[in-house]
Amino acid sequence: MNVGIDQISFHVPNFYVDMVDLANARNVDPNKFLIGIGQEKMAVNPKSQDIITFATNAAKQILTDDDLNKIDLIIVGTESSIDESKAAAVVLHRLLDIQPFARSFEVKEACYAGTAGLQMALNHVRLHPDKKALVIATDIAKYGLNSGGEPTQGAGAVAILVAANPKILVIHEESLALTQDIYDFWRPTNQAYPLVDGPLSNETYIQSFNQVWNTYNQQFNQQISDYQALLFHIPYTKMGKKALQSVLPTADQITQERLLQHYEDSIQYSRQVGNLYTGSLYLGLISLLENSQDLKTTQKIGLFSYGSGAVAEFFTASLVNGYQEHLHHSLHQNLLNERKRLSIEEYEKMFEDSLDVNVDQEFSDTYPYSIQSIHNTIRQYRK
Ligand code: COA
Repeated sequence: MNVGIDQISFHVPNFYVDMVDLANARNVDPNKFLIGIGQEKMAVNPKSQDIITFATNAAKQILTDDDLNKIDLIIVGTESSIDESKAAAVVLHRLLDIQPFARSFEVKEACYAGTAGLQMALNHVRLHPDKKALVIATDIAKYGLNSGGEPTQGAGAVAILVAANPKILVIHEESLALTQDIYDFWRPTNQAYPLVDGPLSNETYIQSFNQVWNTYNQQFNQQISDYQALLFHIPYTKMGKKALQSVLPTADQITQERLLQHYEDSIQYSRQVGNLYTGSLYLGLISLLENSQDLKTTQKIGLFSYGSGAVAEFFTASLVNGYQEHLHHSLHQNLLNERKRLSIEEYEKMFEDSLDVNVDQEFSDTYPYSIQSIHNTIRQYRK
């Protein structure tokens, strides 16, 4: 039985910083950010919008009444959790009006968490093909003003509906995960920003990719020419390209051109929003599907998921005939085009204006599912 992605969509907050403005403010050559890092814009959220706001907006766009009745599993992958105990998935379950007899929980392993959730959801639907599962990867990537990671920040969510006989993408059962206890990026409890060893994270990312890529292809008898596209976790768009370039010399000219072109298609949205942490790989998938004209249902797509710390996984998928009819291209284009550009002064003010849940307050932001008020540390969302 085929199980995979029946629906997929993303949401980002309605503010962004232009990377040329940021480079000028930080006395850096803009080409370092535009070419060296590979980013044009970076999504920024006001304190009235959080991971629940992004997740609800992303999921609302894709769920029908029939889906709401069939979903019995909701998994949120995040490393920007808003509660040490209660799962964001429980709040989402209510905001989305999903039928009550469901399992709802949150998973964590840096930028890998969304994939952990997706694999669990796939196995759940393989066992219960009459049910559906909702997986949401939602995060706020914040490294701090003037930090080394500042140009690789971003915010937003990807929502994925998993079902049997999916309309968009069949995900194959064969996959290969790799765990290594490495401190390349971590965020101790109660610390606002992560601690990151940038060069080590880049190195571990490439090394992990090469390990799972080589072993997967040996175990499952695949070669690079079998793939029409390789998708990567995209902390910044240059990162995935470096990983891709590490294996391209093993491919013939036609395969190299195809993989490079499809990589460019897969980073269109990431260039405009920055790092979504655990949603980044899936934002790349949406970008590939919505911006590529020559994808085939007969050839595989490879996906590389990476979460610092570190867990990596490589798995593959195949497109379903007619998948184009189930995408949300114009909705996503409008979302990106209608955002407000912040001056660096506005961005810095928004960045430092952090939410204090110990202060009861009301918010005037009318953005869908933004925080309406805080009372007794509890966030109420605008429905
Ligand atoms: N024009 C074009 N390219 C330029 C440039 C210019 N004027 N100036 C610098 N560059 C290039 C560099 O050559 C380098 O390219 P390369 O990696 O292909 O060699 C790139 O820009 C980045 O420069 P670098 O000096 O390495 O940047 P940095 O010290 O500011 O660190 C990160 C970059 C990504 C390590 C840092 O932003 C970071 O720590 N990010 C968070 C962690 C992360 O995302 N890790 C990824 C794995 S999860």
